[in-house]
Amino acid sequence: MSNPFLADDERSLLLMRIKELEERHTTFRDSVVCAFNQLLDLKDISTGVHSTRLAEWALRVARKLDIPEECLYQVEVAALLHDVGKIGVPDAMLKKAGKLTAEERAIINRHPEYSWSILRLFSGLEEASLYALHHHESVDGSGYPAGLTGTNIPLPSRIVSVIDAYDAMVSNRCYRKGMPHEEAIRRLVASSGSQFDAAVVQTFIPIAEQDADDVFAAAGTSSSAAL
Ligand SMILES: [Fe+2]
Repeated sequence: MSNPFLADDERSLLLMRIKELEERHTTFRDSVVCAFNQLLDLKDISTGVHSTRLAEWALRVARKLDIPEECLYQVEVAALLHDVGKIGVPDAMLKKAGKLTAEERAIINRHPEYSWSILRLFSGLEEASLYALHHHESVDGSGYPAGLTGTNIPLPSRIVSVIDAYDAMVSNRCYRKGMPHEEAIRRLVASSGSQFDAAVVQTFIPIAEQDADDVFAAAGTSSSAAL
């Protein structure tokens, strides 16, 4: 809307200034996301390859499930930074090879709330913070932190839940070897409708199939590796 109190040249100067500030804000927001991603890498919570792969998969699944293009940035950030709250969990628990005690499990299970409390502080990442908060919910209500069910769980959180579980199953960890692609898919399907959203699983399977060889090459194993 044109302002009758501003001359044309003043108005165009003002518009240029607004555009410049918007660009600066976007650049700053992107650097914050990259910095956190780097932090996760340094803490060895996720590697660069892992998080880039998750973000790419999340976007492909989101597009197939008709999440509007203008919402995809928040989905991408949630896929990249959903576990940022693990920074608040002691390494001795995150990397424990043996069985976790109930107390240790309870502390680890607080990480989605920690992720939310960090991401929500950044203006422009509010939606991503909510998606991160709910990435360990199960569609049957047995997940955490809120015990949400079905479509009450934000769709991007349901997407992150499936792709993160697949990635965790096929990746090598310091305390166990990654499982074969076929077994990981079998487990996703077996838990469809209880832990995972069945439509998200079905949408993700062809994508995982397509990328399986690249994923296993990056993980230093093969898609037919023994359990
Ligand atoms: Fe998590």
